[in-house]
Amino acid sequence: MKKIIKGYSKLSKDAKIEWLIDNYFEQSEKALELLKTYWNSDTDLQKLHDEFIENTLTNFYLPYGVAPNFVINNQTYCIPLAIEESSVVAAAAKAANFWSNRGGFKTKVLSTTKIGHVHFIWEGKQEEKIELIHFFDTLKSDLIEGTDHITRNMRLRGGGISDIQLIDKSDLEPGYFQLEARFETCDSMGANFINSVLEEFAKILKYKVESSSLNTRQIQVIMCILSNYTPECIVRAEVNCNVEDLNDDKEISPEDFAFRFLRAVRIAEIEPYRAVTHNKGIMNGIDSVVIATGNDFRAIEACAHAYAARNGKYSSLTHAEVVDGKFRFWIDIPLSLGTVGGITTLHPMVKFSHELLGKPNAPELMQIIAVAGLAQNFSAIRSLVTTGIQKGHMKMHLLNILNQLEAKDEEKSYIIDYFKDKVPSYHATIEIFCKLRGVKQLSEVGLKKG
Ligand code: MEV
Repeated sequence: MKKIIKGYSKLSKDAKIEWLIDNYFEQSEKALELLKTYWNSDTDLQKLHDEFIENTLTNFYLPYGVAPNFVINNQTYCIPLAIEESSVVAAAAKAANFWSNRGGFKTKVLSTTKIGHVHFIWEGKQEEKIELIHFFDTLKSDLIEGTDHITRNMRLRGGGISDIQLIDKSDLEPGYFQLEARFETCDSMGANFINSVLEEFAKILKYKVESSSLNTRQIQVIMCILSNYTPECIVRAEVNCNVEDLNDDKEISPEDFAFRFLRAVRIAEIEPYRAVTHNKGIMNGIDSVVIATGNDFRAIEACAHAYAARNGKYSSLTHAEVVDGKFRFWIDIPLSLGTVGGITTLHPMVKFSHELLGKPNAPELMQIIAVAGLAQNFSAIRSLVTTGIQKGHMKMHLLNILNQLEAKDEEKSYIIDYFKDKVPSYHATIEIFCKLRGVKQLSEVGLKKG
């Protein structure tokens, strides 16, 4: 077992690396060189990145790509995506092109409310509950006034606290209550704002209880935290066109395409195994723009999946219909995003993304990101119900395989050309690669990286 180290975070960066390499790596020179390869030569920029988190040793690259030609509400966008999966940007660009001459994407923010809770325990008797309810009625204005200093700036920007409720959850857990507050946080995601308000609420709650008749029953505040579940912060994105304009693929008629497409969406609505993969594809598009714009993809993911299960069964986030010969495909998704605060004004590539998108405000960014999710899902289903997913996916993944094989540029060109009209596979790529090198099997090639 490795030794436990105390005070690692207090060590200098060099000392942290030295300890790590001494304890975890056999080829210490190689490991050190690798970490340093990813350091930025601009020391100020490196320092900025070092200070984002604790114990930064180096940087971890993700490819940053763009998908042009997204027409959203009659404006054209070039959308940035940070993602490692080969086919995602290509799929986004394909859907953008497809819809750009069919009216583009239409979007609408349906609501922007965020929610947070003070979770507390009050073990009063059933008949005393009415006292708690009366107490809360007077407490509400104290909570608003007592957080005036925290909410002032947000109120000046048009946001703030929009509602506070006392919620009785004692049927789930004895004595469990919540102060449930609703917030408008304008262009910030709002986590720090909401959590600061909630922690102040808890102080006011405790103080007011002490000076009330409820004091005989202690209130125990357990925690104060925003909820990343934001079913009241929803955006809709959709596309529509006449069925006859739907498909430009000669192999399948537009009607047949619409039939298969609708069935594919329906299967994801009713069948959780398919729904998870279907929604994962949507999140390919969403997460990559969320990352490129400096937002919290873990919060977005957790919320999206909770929303997908809101009716008690995990289901599709997108829906499709054909009514009177018109095909319509749409997504309703909760997206709590910020365009100010966090790392949005710090990370140079995040700033670049915001500029590329025309410096959107938070509701505008919600719309762009919902479109990225819908577009991704459109491309995935389009492939799934026609050619199959592997054709496009493996085409994009082929370069990864060739890089693993340490293929030279001319070998890459030859092999890519070879697969132009075939679906590439790992096995077939190795076969053609070995043939090119004049060997029977891969072990005879002697790859440098093993
Ligand atoms: C792969 O990352 C995503 C897909 O599996 C999504 C889907 O099946 O809808 C292609």
